[in-house]
Amino acid sequence: MTYSDQPTPLEARSSGPLTGKVRVPGDKSISHRALILGALAVGETRVSGLLEGEDVLNTAKAMRALGAKVERSGNFAWSVRGVGVAGFAPPEAPLDFGNSGTGCRLVMGAVAGCPITAIFDGDASLRGRPMRRVLDPLELMGAKVGAAKEGGRLPLTLNGARDPLPVLYRTPVASAQIKSAVLLAGLSAPGVTTVIETEASRDHTELMLKHFGAQIVSTREGSHGRKIALTGQPELHGADVVVPADPSSAAFPIVAALIVEGSDIVLSDIMTNPLRTGLFTTLREMGASIEESHARGDAGEPMAQFRVRASRLRGVEVPPERAPSMIDEYLVLAVAAAFAEGTTIMRGLQELRVKESDRLEATAAMLHPYGSPDRDVGAGDGACFRQAGEGGRYRLYRDQLSGFHPDDARPWGRIFMRAR
Ligand code: S3P
Repeated sequence: MTYSDQPTPLEARSSGPLTGKVRVPGDKSISHRALILGALAVGETRVSGLLEGEDVLNTAKAMRALGAKVERSGNFAWSVRGVGVAGFAPPEAPLDFGNSGTGCRLVMGAVAGCPITAIFDGDASLRGRPMRRVLDPLELMGAKVGAAKEGGRLPLTLNGARDPLPVLYRTPVASAQIKSAVLLAGLSAPGVTTVIETEASRDHTELMLKHFGAQIVSTREGSHGRKIALTGQPELHGADVVVPADPSSAAFPIVAALIVEGSDIVLSDIMTNPLRTGLFTTLREMGASIEESHARGDAGEPMAQFRVRASRLRGVEVPPERAPSMIDEYLVLAVAAAFAEGTTIMRGLQELRVKESDRLEATAAMLHPYGSPDRDVGAGDGACFRQAGEGGRYRLYRDQLSGFHPDDARPWGRIFMRAR
């Protein structure tokens, strides 16, 4: 029998209340980092709960191509034997990161600190995404970009630095990918590499570097920022990593449980790193019942069990400085906001435009069938206005999603999303 490589369409149906206990898959950010740091460490790194999705598997392949021994030892269990800091071997073929900006940008940083040449490539979406933001600091550190498409886009050739320089770099946007690329290159530089961010982005690289034995210090900078100083040329030693459940994946059953009357679900091991939990803060402000218990930690990352019960949500204003801590969750927040009473305003969303898709557009498109098409995407600062549950559209909404608040005559939420 032959299988088509076309993806199978998923079908969604309205349901009754959600109940039960679930552990969502492992965190994607942690999974990429466990493989990359494992490959740069000496000795064995054992990872459990790895997310075995395409993005992470492409990072695993890249680590193999760069000389690390990466093996799957059981369900979601992986073993990595690394080559040591600056020890990557030149890959024989281009490194293909598929759809993954995180895998690609982090590995660019790791390669930039090694005296090798590698070609980076990805799918059509990744080929369209900005890479200059990572290449700029890596060039300051001594890496050189060979052939590249306009604006430093993929496919591109990166020549790592023979003698990488430590730098002090201020990231132009709050991005853990830029920060992590600089820190990973800084591992091979003598002296201290410093990254300053005016708004703190997720700090998984810093926490995991510490777990693998690096000397790295993070201090507050201004009201929302961080200054991170990494001492170069450490000996990283292999370590055990338990990957917590991904809060970005948990966001979907959590919002589903909140909006379907009578729901009561439990999710285990959800990562509660405060730089990832902006959505949960926002949902609680909206009136969500999310109870945390069984707090524990592994490899520097906190996690907890969540109990989520259906709740009446109200619209809130989400401040721009919260954006880095929930950058992957605005789409699902928009679903919650559509079911909330009153208006939800989200600001500071410009980074959503340069993800694997333009997520501002995608959010508007997702809501379009369910509300009046009163929108203004791309105008001025890229404001996007949605209003759900108007006039005739309201009936359509109710009929399509029967089972959601069946007797509820409230007006549905209004959503206002601004790029800046
Ligand atoms: C990620 C950082 C974020 C996020 C991405 C994962 C990471 O991107 O959107 O899904 O693991 O470092 P930016 O750092 O570019 O905001």
